[in-house]
Amino acid sequence: MGFRVWIGFFVIVFGLVLACTISASESEESQSKDFVLTLDHSNFSETIGKHNFVVVEFYAPWCGHCKKLAPEYEKAASTLSSHDPPVILAKVDANEEKNKGLASEYEIKGFPTIKIIRNGGKNIQDFKGPRDADGIVDYLKKQSGPASVELKSVEDASGLIDDKKVVIVGIFPEFSGEKFENYTALAEKLRSDYEFGHTLDAKLLPLGDSSVSGPTVRLFKPFDERFLDCQDFDVDALEKFVEEGSIPVVTIFNKDPSNHPFIIKFFNSPDAKAMLFLNFGSELVDTFKSKYHEVAEQYKGKGVNFLMGDVEASQGAFQYFGLKDDQVPLIIIQTNDGQKYLKPNIEPDHIASWVKEYMDGNVPPFKKSEPIPETNTEPVKVVVADSLQDMVLSSGKNVLLEFYAPWCGHCKKLAPILDDVAVSFENDDDVLIAKIDATANDIPTGTFDVKGYPTLYFKSASGNLSQYEGDRTKEDIIDFIQKNRDKTAQQESKKDEL
Ligand SMILES: *[C@@H]1O[C@H](CO)[C@@H](O)[C@H](O)[C@H]1NC(C)=O
Ligand SMILES: *[C@@H]1O[C@H](CO)[C@@H](O)[C@H](O)[C@H]1NC(C)=O
Ligand SMILES: *[C@@H]1O[C@H](CO)[C@@H](O)[C@H](O)[C@H]1NC(C)=O
Repeated sequence: MGFRVWIGFFVIVFGLVLACTISASESEESQSKDFVLTLDHSNFSETIGKHNFVVVEFYAPWCGHCKKLAPEYEKAASTLSSHDPPVILAKVDANEEKNKGLASEYEIKGFPTIKIIRNGGKNIQDFKGPRDADGIVDYLKKQSGPASVELKSVEDASGLIDDKKVVIVGIFPEFSGEKFENYTALAEKLRSDYEFGHTLDAKLLPLGDSSVSGPTVRLFKPFDERFLDCQDFDVDALEKFVEEGSIPVVTIFNKDPSNHPFIIKFFNSPDAKAMLFLNFGSELVDTFKSKYHEVAEQYKGKGVNFLMGDVEASQGAFQYFGLKDDQVPLIIIQTNDGQKYLKPNIEPDHIASWVKEYMDGNVPPFKKSEPIPETNTEPVKVVVADSLQDMVLSSGKNVLLEFYAPWCGHCKKLAPILDDVAVSFENDDDVLIAKIDATANDIPTGTFDVKGYPTLYFKSASGNLSQYEGDRTKEDIIDFIQKNRDKTAQQESKKDEL
């Protein structure tokens, strides 16, 4: 689960798709399925126009996460086929050339992306539910019903409001009038993110008191002050109230799945992200928690959000930031332009002063790099962030550089091919074949645009930088290098000698 969260983090914060990039050679599996409709550019609008509630999965045949979803999605479609009113599940191959217009119209940035399309296409929302069959069914049943459910009894209320999620309840003297309509509009707008209810009787609500006077929107949350009230019924004001009220002062990142929606919110926010990582089993954890909470309260609304993560659940984050377990407890702050600031081995009493130093602009940014290797004798040379300038950018050589991730299957497939390419240039001092682990080294984003793995860049001796997008075969890569390399002085003089 932690992994999926970090995928969300990548996709959302950096626009990265954490899947290997497209390989045309991978075969598509085709199975005839009954309940999920297959749509394409020719019949998409027509189908959407015919139904009030259509769920569409945009997928790519090569995408592993899509393959995992397929049987669950099919099972959900089969269960929901007898639901009243009907819930239609469909899919579109967004990788297919002719469907790419649809994919961009629906702003598809990663696969799979599931959209809920209502009222013949007038209303489009992201599917934010679980991805197993039962979870999909439950979520879609709720999504296809009314946006806000009426709470008529204590049981209704306790069925909706629990200590796992944010729930919003509108309390009204009657279910009519502009305030009620605005509340309903809010519920429609945010229904894929939160659950909504409405009631005539505040006493039915948990933590309920009868002191509510006049129409009130109450937000229940499983953290901090537990509930918040709002009596401004302007739709935008209500939305702001809900969005701000549902972010914990300190987001907790551990293995508990009920925290995941808050973690996703944390990473979705455009604010800087302060993350304290420590061992939740340590005896100092409560001291850290209270000191960190104080700091978070102090900077609330000032452009930084705070998260506290258990090292055990945070291996993905550690890999991503290039952190080591012996640096714990640590704070890392990441700004939305990708700068990072690190304080390893921090003590509870120093949290406030270090965060203040950061806020005052006195902390230098931190660049992640593997150490420069002492020996580098394999045909494909190892580049790290600290050697990128010397070995690649200002080397005066023609360099083919692969950005890879250790876990990426397509990169593993490419490795022997790159080896062969490197061997074929071994006696050519003007050509360097190199690779950099893009998960363990910071990549200058203004120079390289790495959206997936592997990504190949070619830099000519004179410094012309371009992405290699040809086939990943030995012949094509060699051919590309020969066509695009610059002749260096050394090579020219060799030619003269002949
Ligand atoms: C849409 O068109 C595609 C290709 O022509 C076809 O395979 C698919 O079954 C059609 N879907 C519907 C719901 O008509
Ligand atoms: C309802 O929302 C609209 C649009 O946001 C706003 O102009 C109006 O004042 C709101 N009505 C009430 C009673 O707050
Ligand atoms: C740089 O590379 C691109 C892509 O290979 C090529 O179109 C362009 O002409 C090159 N520019 C120079 C100055 O060599």
